[in-house]
Amino acid sequence: MSYDLIVIGGGPAGYLAAERAGQAKLKTLVIEKRALGGVCLNEGCIPSKTLLHSAKIYDYARFSEKYGVKSEKVSFDHATVLKRKNKIVRMLVSGIKSKLKKNEVDVLEGEAEIQGRDENGINVSVDGNVYSGTNLLIATGSLPAIPPIPGLKEGLESGFVLTNREILDIEEIPEKLVIIGGGVIGLEMASYFNSAGSKVTVIEMLDHVGGYIDADISNILLKNYQKAGITFHLNSRVTGIEDSKVIYQVDGETVSVETDKVLISTGRKPVVNGLGLETIGVEVQNGAIIVDGSGRTNVPNVYAAGDVNGRSMLAHTAYREAEVVVNTILGDVDEVNYDAIPNVIYTNPEVASVGHTEQSAKEAGIDVDSITISMRYSGRYMAENEGGDGICKILLNKETQTIVGVHMIGSYTSEIIYGAGILVDTKMKLEDIKKLVFPHPTVCEVIREGFFEF
Ligand code: FAD
Ligand code: NAI
Repeated sequence: MSYDLIVIGGGPAGYLAAERAGQAKLKTLVIEKRALGGVCLNEGCIPSKTLLHSAKIYDYARFSEKYGVKSEKVSFDHATVLKRKNKIVRMLVSGIKSKLKKNEVDVLEGEAEIQGRDENGINVSVDGNVYSGTNLLIATGSLPAIPPIPGLKEGLESGFVLTNREILDIEEIPEKLVIIGGGVIGLEMASYFNSAGSKVTVIEMLDHVGGYIDADISNILLKNYQKAGITFHLNSRVTGIEDSKVIYQVDGETVSVETDKVLISTGRKPVVNGLGLETIGVEVQNGAIIVDGSGRTNVPNVYAAGDVNGRSMLAHTAYREAEVVVNTILGDVDEVNYDAIPNVIYTNPEVASVGHTEQSAKEAGIDVDSITISMRYSGRYMAENEGGDGICKILLNKETQTIVGVHMIGSYTSEIIYGAGILVDTKMKLEDIKKLVFPHPTVCEVIREGFFEF
């Protein structure tokens, strides 16, 4: 069977590319070996956010007295939370199926392997059948990176150590949970399990949490979570896992912590092995497929989008990359602007940012003015966040007078940040930005207030 486009992988990059290609009347096949929706829908973005929302409601109820609301006998039912999570996932996955059907995309269940190229195009086999495509999109996503820590493999086999996949389906809240890695997954899961009643310990080898987020914001988040009862061991590298403990090194000393379960969240690695990339000569560097800004690999008509190209392992990046690939196949000139991709950590308070940090601007040779203002400038923030300590940091390129970075911690910031992203993306001048009207009272008004500090 011949197609205009064959897509390997039915995650955000794959299913959206297939949908857009179908809309453009390209004859399209998408092949998925596990579950349509990929990591994001089945074991990532959506399950984690569903769980976190329940935790947020629980926390509101438990700590409502300061708002004049007395609640009694509030309890948390993880089994119901899990059931609801599964329902949401099922609904969203079936939504994708119907969208693909509506756009006449063929969907095949099975593991795809590239078999080289001939006069029919690029050949891909699934369960012994071969399909040919004029164009191929590799959208195979990523898997948890498993560092060579002694005992980790055995721990994963025995079920003592979990990855994101297992923890999002765990049936009992562990009494004690150790999380290896204080990055995005680590923080979001620490947030949920702490609210749900676990005694959570996060072990992070860097001196801060949250990876590349702004240093001041990372500090605020850390303090909020320490106050909420989570224990953090920073500058601590995990060196071993045994029966019921995690061993780590800090300041040259070896120490250990007892636990019931362990979550490993030390990053993710693109899925490139066993795909048959060598049969068509697709280049891989540092474990990721090399692509240009339009998703082209080094091989004509072969593209890679989403986590597999390792550029920005986020679902919304995957969406945009997928659309850029389809536009490129259709002959349009299109590129992803990687400088304006929002990042969100769905903790409580939420962290959201777009563009440069002070550090990355310096490294890029951009001379910036930076202002930091308290979220308390917003009346709505004050009304809704008793004792809140959120901030908003804005970076202005001194030379061009355009916004190159916005970093926020506080309520609704995940919903606000796209607006800041538009300013970074379109390079609107400060004098024009100042003329924009923001609704009142809202938390996003803090950004507007910030513009007048320059
Ligand atoms: P994937 O979603 O990984 O999909 C790839 C698909 O390809 C998989 O379904 C896989 O089965 C399939 N596949 C692989 N090899 C083959 C083969 N040979 N044949 C057939 N099929 C194959 N991002 C956000 O933006 N926001 C969030 O809130 C967020 N939360 C997350 C929470 C967690 C716990 C995790 C783990 C990730 C989260 N992410 C989040 C990241 C997000 O899930 C990924 O960036 C996104 O799923 C990438 O999409 P993708 O299509 O590239 O890959
Ligand atoms: P991450 O890269 O965010 O964090 C991993 C952390 O583990 C780092 O801080 C690192 O220093 C630490 N680490 C590594 N080895 C260690 C060791 N031996 N001991 C102690 N600490 C160690 O990776 P994470 O959290 O696994 O997430 C993977 C990706 O998934 C993210 O980068 C992101 O792209 C995506 N994601 C996005 C979310 C969102 O957008 N809200 C939510 C969850 C995941």
